[in-house]
Amino acid sequence: MQETINNLKKEIQEKLSSTIDLKNLNELKNIYLSKKGPVQELMNHMKELGNEEKKEFGRIINEFKTEVTNSFDKLKKDLEEQELNRKLESESIDISLPSTKVNVGSANILEKLIEEVEEVFISMGYDVVDGPEIELDKYNFEMLNIPKGHPARDAQDTFYLEGEEILLRSQTSPVQVRTLLKGNGITPIRMICPGKTYRRDDDDATHSHQFMQIEGLVVDKEISLSDLKGTLDVVFKKLFGENTETRFHPSYYQFTEPSVEVDITCHKCHGTGCNICKNTGWITIAGAGIVHPNVLRMSGYDPSVWTGFAFGFGADRLAMEKYDIHDLRAIYNTDLRETKTFDRKERD
Ligand code: DAH
Repeated sequence: MQETINNLKKEIQEKLSSTIDLKNLNELKNIYLSKKGPVQELMNHMKELGNEEKKEFGRIINEFKTEVTNSFDKLKKDLEEQELNRKLESESIDISLPSTKVNVGSANILEKLIEEVEEVFISMGYDVVDGPEIELDKYNFEMLNIPKGHPARDAQDTFYLEGEEILLRSQTSPVQVRTLLKGNGITPIRMICPGKTYRRDDDDATHSHQFMQIEGLVVDKEISLSDLKGTLDVVFKKLFGENTETRFHPSYYQFTEPSVEVDITCHKCHGTGCNICKNTGWITIAGAGIVHPNVLRMSGYDPSVWTGFAFGFGADRLAMEKYDIHDLRAIYNTDLRETKTFDRKERD
């Protein structure tokens, strides 16, 4: 019996010494230490022995079993450790390696400008609101005091989508109407609305069939033209620098009375005259005025109680002035070299 045990011990040890991975070790364990394996078979033998022999044999076989089990456990531990070390070695990070260069884009110049304008107005208590680009004729024209057939419509070569009622908004001014309607004739209003607008223009250096406007509307009690002047003065100083001056000259819009155009001193020559301002020293940057009583009335605000001012900038125009861009199309292309140039101009 002792010999059988010795042989088995030798056999197991030989097998274990040539085992190099955990899978193999498991297979061996299943063979030698399972309920039907040779170790168990030896133990089953005990039933056939007398009491004295049983005692002696029991001790031997138990020692043997413990020894074999320990050998399996020890090898398992060693193999696991080896595998962990291998893994750690293969996954180690060389922190001295140079990183991969990622070619990042940059925000569109118009987006940046609009964010800047929004920040200025938000700091003055304005809401930033949104409106649909597919608009009703009623809001784009009629409720802005431009009835059907009025010649003021001709200036805005509009894209009509369905009949005469649905169009691509030709200005952001319809958002004034939508905001007034929401205000129910009782709520003071202070809002700006940046957004896309569309006109049937051929694209060239200064025209685009799609462009960006920023509309503004303030409605409250006792609002005057000087509030408008003071507000725009602060805004343009923030955007173009502290020594920027603002001036108004008379203009005409159906939805404001009086109407003005807003000029700022040319940021390039600061008023002395250059090619950008065509030697006038001034650049026209926005349309504005006191909200026409008809506009207030049509949207439920009583013009004997409420007054307001409104303004609209071409955001593209603003960006062209601020970043000295001579071709509008540069704003809308995705050439990284150009957007990077704008980034540099902004830093200068
Ligand atoms: N909507 C006008 C345009 O597209 C710009 C404008 C002028 C907006 C005067 C206004 C305003 O709110 O008061 O030409």
